[in-house]
Amino acid sequence: MIEFQNVVKRFPDGFTAVKGLNLTVHDGEITVFIGPSGCGKTTSMRMVNRLLSITEGKILVEGRDNRDFPAEELRRKIGYAIQQIGLFPHFTVLDNIAVVPRMLGWEESRIRKRVDELLDLVGLDPDINRDKYPRQLSGGQQQRVGVARALGADPPIMLMDEPFGAIDPITREVLQEEFLAIQQEIGKTIIFVTHDIDEAIKMGDRIAILRDGALEQYDTPDNILAHPKDRFVRDFVGSDRSLKRLGLVRVSELMDPESKPLVRMRDSTDKARQVIEEHKVRSAFVVDDEGVLKGWVDLDGIRHAPNSLIDAMMEADFHEIGVRKGNTAREALSAMVARGFRITPVVDKNGRLVGSITLKALQDLAEQEWSEEEATAS
Ligand SMILES: Nc1ncnc2c1ncn2[C@@H]1O[C@H](COP(=O)(O)OP(=O)(O)OP(=O)(O)O)[C@@H](O)[C@H]1O
Ligand SMILES: [Mg+2]
Repeated sequence: MIEFQNVVKRFPDGFTAVKGLNLTVHDGEITVFIGPSGCGKTTSMRMVNRLLSITEGKILVEGRDNRDFPAEELRRKIGYAIQQIGLFPHFTVLDNIAVVPRMLGWEESRIRKRVDELLDLVGLDPDINRDKYPRQLSGGQQQRVGVARALGADPPIMLMDEPFGAIDPITREVLQEEFLAIQQEIGKTIIFVTHDIDEAIKMGDRIAILRDGALEQYDTPDNILAHPKDRFVRDFVGSDRSLKRLGLVRVSELMDPESKPLVRMRDSTDKARQVIEEHKVRSAFVVDDEGVLKGWVDLDGIRHAPNSLIDAMMEADFHEIGVRKGNTAREALSAMVARGFRITPVVDKNGRLVGSITLKALQDLAEQEWSEEEATAS
């Protein structure tokens, strides 16, 4: 745990960059610091590992005032990936990653083994990359080395200052996914700085929105999107926050496992009409004897082929028309909009129908926020 207690940072020129910050970073979580340029993100972060001194207040690391740690212990505990990568240009990849382990006096053989492990972890082939210099790597590869270096001595805490800032959007998404997968395994306590609200929502277990050196709002991404505290936060997260929030909700949370307007291929068209009317939907899903989704049928189709459900139905591959429980609500919405469905089947990996999700469920989620917003509009 990292606890900021009334932390103030005044620079020698008299400028106060951090104005009484109170905040707890929880173990094993990614806490994102976000806010406009100059709001004090980097300054706050650099006080944690004492690269900057604290003017007033204190920062507890694992319950202890961080000024009470010997500098070396603090460095071992806290990995740091700095803004703009910051690799040493005249050091090889190996030497860059080995900086902290060498400082800690590790045996050379242990360092080499660790460097190779870390290169593997961040998706760089050790044999190809270990002896390269930073200029021989792409920007994305350099950032991976930067992350590997921060992980060098396996610190329980990581400070990451815009670690993916210098990267094009597509590579950045890949790095984000990879890093989240790594974090699943390593479970570090992380402060992650970014400018990018989408990155914050994706990476953060919690988001701290900073403004002029003070904390504006601190909460989970979902709560920040659902309940922005004031106009500043609302503007900051953007007018499409309902859509963004749909990106956080899984189909499994919104689907109805009971309500399945469902007919079997060997059922009659009368049965299909009955199901459609019962469920008040425009079409019913058609499944085979194993429950695998084979297509859908609507009243139009039944009119055209009243004697055979197989002739009346529209055949479709379940990959095409179904969504999975693990998809986001946002993906389900895109699927519905693309196909003009008001209800979309949810299938398992074998194509078996396990439930459905309605456009209305997605709209309700969005509307719930809009009405709250009216109530709190300032
Ligand atoms: N050594 C210093 N002396 C005086 N003021 C400083 C010093 N370092 C930073 N500042 C000021 O403190 C404020 C906060 O800087 P900081 O680097 O923490 O911002 P940031 O939130 O990380 O911004 P960015 O998103 O641009 O990286 C800025 O207004 C900056 O000009
Ligand atoms: Mg900064």
